[in-house]
Amino acid sequence: MSEATIQEYDENLMALLEAIWGEGFMSPGGTAEVDRYLDGIDLNGQSVLDIGCGLGGVDLHLAQHHDVARVIGIDIDQALIQRCDQLAEKYQATEQLEFRCVEPGPLPFKAASFGIVTSKDSIIHITDKQALSQDIFRILEPGGWFAASDWLAGYEDQPSAEMQAYIDAEGLDFNLASATIYADALQAAGFVDIGIVDRNQWYRQQARVEREQLTGALSEGLASNLGTDFLDHQIDIWNKMISALDQGQLRPTHLRAHKPLSP
Ligand SMILES: C[S@@+](CC[C@H](N)C(=O)[O-])C[C@H]1O[C@@H](n2cnc3c(N)ncnc32)[C@H](O)[C@@H]1O
Repeated sequence: MSEATIQEYDENLMALLEAIWGEGFMSPGGTAEVDRYLDGIDLNGQSVLDIGCGLGGVDLHLAQHHDVARVIGIDIDQALIQRCDQLAEKYQATEQLEFRCVEPGPLPFKAASFGIVTSKDSIIHITDKQALSQDIFRILEPGGWFAASDWLAGYEDQPSAEMQAYIDAEGLDFNLASATIYADALQAAGFVDIGIVDRNQWYRQQARVEREQLTGALSEGLASNLGTDFLDHQIDIWNKMISALDQGQLRPTHLRAHKPLSP
């Protein structure tokens, strides 16, 4: 296991994200959204890799509700990996779940190690979508599936001023790319049956519900636990994110691609 200690998401941010998005989740939509992007893919008995497992909510859901043989969740943040281990223990899912801290870069697995590679809203942090697509193709068994969701750019070149303001406010290491870039990268890697489903309309509505929670039902508890300044900053981020969503600059998207049985 690597001793990588990259930590972009601090304790306060994780507490707020889990309050909005549910235990184990650092991305929107919860288990229902996971089921949507995996819809129609048979996970029964499969060996699954989750890239950017965060707090482990996706992995626990796969273990509890999809009859997978095992899930390996990888992340570059050792503190998150510890939280994933605690989640697996809490729900007695340690036999199916394994979490590893990795260095950013090539995936540390042999060719054809997994039947399914998944990722929820983490590939935004990985700059080279072409190299990643090739690496996912390499570690998938023939006939295997890549199925994920991610934050995509609704622009090819430069973001709008509002989108840039949102990215700056987040202050995270974002490397957004358009659907064209993802599709080209997956195709060049050798994938077929590439599917791209835009979720912008859904999340435009959902983000407003989340903002209402931040300013309403969750506000008092979050302010007393995390501080008013922190909460106000997060509400400002949500406002900027909603502008970027409304402009179509920020596009949550489901991605899937199939590794052919024979080359
Ligand atoms: C927005 S969180 C999503 C976490 C989780 N998939 C979820 O939906 O709750 C993005 C995660 O990607 C991780 N990450 C960033 N760069 C990575 C890389 N190169 N390899 C693996 N994980 C990475 C971050 O540490 C973080 O946990």
